[in-house]
Amino acid sequence: MTDTALCYTLCVKIINIRMRDAMLGTKHSEAPVPGYFNYPTAPQFSAAIGAETYGEWLGGLPANDSVSLYIHIPFCRSMCWYCGCPPTITRRDAPIQNYVAALRDEIRLVSELTPQALPVSDVHFGGGTPTLLEPKEFLALMELLRRRFAFRQKTAIAVEIDPRTFTTEMAEALGAAGVNRASLGVQSFDPFVQKAINRVQSVEQTAIAVENLRQQGISRINIDLIYGLPNQTMQSCVQTATVAVAMRPQRLAVFGYAHAPSSNKHQRLIEKAALPDGAARAEQAEAVAETLVSAGYRQIGSTTSPCRTTSSHWLRKAVACGATPKVTLPTPAKP
Ligand SMILES: C[S@@+](CC[C@H](N)C(=O)[O-])C[C@H]1O[C@@H](n2cnc3c(N)ncnc32)[C@H](O)[C@@H]1O
Ligand code: SF4
Repeated sequence: MTDTALCYTLCVKIINIRMRDAMLGTKHSEAPVPGYFNYPTAPQFSAAIGAETYGEWLGGLPANDSVSLYIHIPFCRSMCWYCGCPPTITRRDAPIQNYVAALRDEIRLVSELTPQALPVSDVHFGGGTPTLLEPKEFLALMELLRRRFAFRQKTAIAVEIDPRTFTTEMAEALGAAGVNRASLGVQSFDPFVQKAINRVQSVEQTAIAVENLRQQGISRINIDLIYGLPNQTMQSCVQTATVAVAMRPQRLAVFGYAHAPSSNKHQRLIEKAALPDGAARAEQAEAVAETLVSAGYRQIGSTTSPCRTTSSHWLRKAVACGATPKVTLPTPAKP
């Protein structure tokens, strides 16, 4: 494996239960393990585990075991001040194109080290904002993955989307590439909160993104919301959740804002005095949960990630949400 491969090892992650056990040095059933998105976990990163070891792990994967592929696109056009997974901010396309070229090399290298074209159960494009790729770049990337791995009819292919930069052309590319799940970042529809987090996103932008995805046959849509943000109130959280469910996403992920300005310097731009306290956060979480339950969603899980983000995940019950209620978000009162 070359130096390039080493540098970019993290942009393509292959996740397989046996490989994970090799990394952790134990059987998964014998160890308390953190979220799936953190393999190898921070303590496993060391100079002792280099390209050779990684290559051996890849070579040792059983040919018939399916794997999940995580493809990371770490770029955004602007910085949301709350962001806990800070990307590289760029207005230019050249850095993204250079990265995609390295990503393609990495996909080739990784796939050459596995015993044969491994079956793929899941592909996840995360970020950052994966939909900043040019539509043709995304299509070519999916084509390469399909050539190097064994996709199945039911392989889940998911993409994280920022509705503010999502175009109709990109929606068409996702549809043509066989993407069947999409996750949209919303956080809050309240303009007063949006200003305090440097993420101004209209309800219309989100609704258009949802519509464009559905036009392409991508109906498994998730919306991300956050409570505990600056200027957020219980009422504002309920309004946001109400507008979100009116878009009938199949799922919602509700995160508690994790404020860690010592490691995420841009979070220092958030005024501490504007953050709700613990009691207010708990009320907001509960109020959002009640709104989702009464709109016909049920909680399917909750997690706490190593970066202290708590999240709950909600699934729409099939029968409960047939109609689309008409909802408008009232203008928030001035502070
Ligand atoms: C990696 S981001 C990708 C989504 C996409 N870039 C966007 O923002 O539209 C995934 C989700 O993590 C959540 N998130 C990011 N930073 C967070 C923080 N500090 N605390 C809680 N949740 C956070 C947000 O809900 C966000 O939509
Ligand atoms: S768009 Fe998503 S990944 Fe990018 S800065 Fe905002 S929250 Fe973070």
